Amino acid sequence: MENDDFAQTPGSSKKDLENIRRDVQAFLTGESLGIQHNKILKTYMTFLDSVLRQEASAEDLTAIVQDMVSYLTLHFVSEESLMNLTAYPEADHHRLRHRGFLDEVERLVTEIRIGQQTYDALAAAAGLWMLDHERTFDADLAAFLAARPDAAG
Ligand SMILES: [Fe+2]
Repeated sequence: MENDDFAQTPGSSKKDLENIRRDVQAFLTGESLGIQHNKILKTYMTFLDSVLRQEASAEDLTAIVQDMVSYLTLHFVSEESLMNLTAYPEADHHRLRHRGFLDEVERLVTEIRIGQQTYDALAAAAGLWMLDHERTFDADLAAFLAARPDAAG
C-alpha cells in the first residue's frame, strides 16, 4: 500500500500553523474551556426545556441526556488534561468533583429507568451542580490559568 499520509495531511502553510497556534493558545489559557462551558449549558437548556414542556418522549429525553453526558465527559477529560499540563495544584480535588457528578448522574439515570426517579430530579440536580461547579471550581481554575505566563499570548 502506498504511503501518502503526508500528502493528505491538511495544509501546513504558515497560516495553518498560525491557526493551530491560536487554538493551542486558547486551550492553554482556558479560553476553549469557556466555549465548551457554553456548549454544555446550551445542551443542558435543551434538556431542561424538554422536561419543562413535558412534550418529549422518554426515548427523546434519554437521547438528550446521553448527548449531555457524552459532551460533559469529553469536557471533563479536556479540563483535566489541561490541569495536568499546567500542574494545577487543585487538580485531584477538582477531578474528584467531576467523577462524583458523573456517578450521581449515572445513578439517577438508572433510577429513572426503573421508575424510581424523575427527569425533573435529574434536571434539577444537573443544573444546580453545573452552576455551582462553574462558579467555584471552574472559576478557580480559570483564575489560575489567567495568571500563568502563557496567558499573555
Ligand atoms: Fe470542572
